[in-house]
Amino acid sequence: MDDLPGTPASLWAETAPPTDYPALDRDITVDVAVLGGGIAGLTTALLLARSGTSVVVLDAGRVGRGVSGYSTAKVTSLHSLTYADLVSGRGEQHARVYGEANEAGLATIARYTRELAIDCDFRRRPNFTYTEEEQKVDQVREEAEAAAGVGLPSSFVQGQIGLPWEVNGAVRFEEQAEFHPTKYLVGIAQAVRGAGGQIYEGTRAVAVDDGEQCKVRAENGREVRAGHVIVATHFPFLDRSGFFARIHAERSYVLAVRIRGQVPQGMYIDTAGHSLRSQPAPGGGELLLVGGASHKVGQADEAEHYRHLERYARERFDVESIDYRWSTQDNIPLDKVPYVGKLAPFSKRVLVATGFRKWGYANGTAAAIILADAVKGSEHPWASTFDSSRLGPPSAAASFVKENANVGRRFVQDRLKRGSASAVPPGEGAIVREGLHQAAVHRDDNGDLHALSARCTHMGCIVQWNTAERSWDCPCHGSRFATDGRVLQGPAVAPLEPRKLRGPDSEPVPE
Ligand SMILES: Cc1cc2nc3c(=O)[nH]c(=O)nc-3n(C[C@H](O)[C@H](O)[C@H](O)COP(=O)(O)OP(=O)(O)OC[C@H]3O[C@@H](n4cnc5c(N)ncnc54)[C@H](O)[C@@H]3O)c2cc1C
Ligand code: FES
Repeated sequence: MDDLPGTPASLWAETAPPTDYPALDRDITVDVAVLGGGIAGLTTALLLARSGTSVVVLDAGRVGRGVSGYSTAKVTSLHSLTYADLVSGRGEQHARVYGEANEAGLATIARYTRELAIDCDFRRRPNFTYTEEEQKVDQVREEAEAAAGVGLPSSFVQGQIGLPWEVNGAVRFEEQAEFHPTKYLVGIAQAVRGAGGQIYEGTRAVAVDDGEQCKVRAENGREVRAGHVIVATHFPFLDRSGFFARIHAERSYVLAVRIRGQVPQGMYIDTAGHSLRSQPAPGGGELLLVGGASHKVGQADEAEHYRHLERYARERFDVESIDYRWSTQDNIPLDKVPYVGKLAPFSKRVLVATGFRKWGYANGTAAAIILADAVKGSEHPWASTFDSSRLGPPSAAASFVKENANVGRRFVQDRLKRGSASAVPPGEGAIVREGLHQAAVHRDDNGDLHALSARCTHMGCIVQWNTAERSWDCPCHGSRFATDGRVLQGPAVAPLEPRKLRGPDSEPVPE
């Protein structure tokens, strides 16, 4: 991993003002508890606080520095290829609502940026989904037509689209945008406080009791009593409605690159998943953000995915330097539409927003609008399109079966792996088996071994070593753990337990 390019840090998390909201240190009662201070949670909190509702936001880490602080940060209603599938899968009306909700999400971000004077590099840009594959041109043309057909600012174009190469075909959306997401969210958090809301960081919610008066329990033992609870923790850590089988977590990668020559001015994604956009560099000039190389969490050699992006960038551009690299993951729903609404069909007061499919800024803002209305007791006209309890069309049911089979396979395959603690090189990790038990063993740069239980505390799959981020990642639902066992990302809420080693190079003691 030492040969990977760039500083391993998100440009967004690194260059936004820090936040230092305190941890929750007493029990409190509010109208609404929002769990998670990303785009979905903070926007919901702001909408509610501004309407006179008493709100608290609890974040396990720092606001705006979860997934929302590690993306490519395009704010758009053009989501790769979506509308043709939505029209054929769920019908024209749902496709129309999806587009309208996302355009409204984009407009809301533009409005808050202006009204609250948030300095977040917000710029209007055209957004393109293009193809270099002749056999995909018809699909791209259909997408442009389907999007235009449901009222979106879409056209089909060919040839030059502002890249140093010509494309076979592209969908072009006008008046889309890009921004600095963490600066934006730090500004939204300030506005939540300004409107009377409370924010606590370093406060992980571990349990929620549903009822007339909901109860949220934090890891440190503190409690929040609330009329409603919004679970906006990215992957919901509570599953009362089969989310674990309806979303899967995919990881993707970003490089911030300085190039010689003109940096492309639009926003782009190709049908192979490579993403491009420009961004003002911290020291002046423009950076090119090169993203993509997705895979299911815990099911790849992660470092190789960074290398793929580096090769792609160098083949296409005259690269002067690679300044930053980062990666994160998002939840992919069965039918391309996020799940927004009740956490479970019988749950009246616990609501959720998840499954943004790597298009979370406009979608997450639209989700917040739906959730704020639900708390106030009215059903937003978009609500049924995003209904959190839907299973979806037959094609989605097939994906459901495939996802479950994948998780099932992981439960079995991962228990058959074998490794040796003494063979783990510095900076690396491996799963070591002793009888029926397994340990996640990492050797640090000083040569010391650290052993943890390899069993994910969520539902017991065996974690895998992430070769790029030096973490333990779960292939089943995407939980991630640090080398000391801390939870980096849910749905897990409990750390991996330490395991004792008999000696510096010996096998771990069985569970
Ligand atoms: C590589 C990549 C690129 C992307 N690029 C784009 C893009 O260009 N445009 C776009 O629209 N979308 C993009 N996305 C998707 C977008 O970033 C996400 O959909 C969105 O940020 C998710 O927001 P969120 O609020 O759901 O989650 P988050 O931003 O992760 O917020 C959840 C918060 O909850 C906190 N939390 C977690 N568990 C708990 C708990 N138990 N208790 C309390 N707090 C908790 C976390 O600390 C976190 O701050 C991209 C995604 C990836 C993977
Ligand atoms: S994330 Fe579900 S078992 Fe690990």
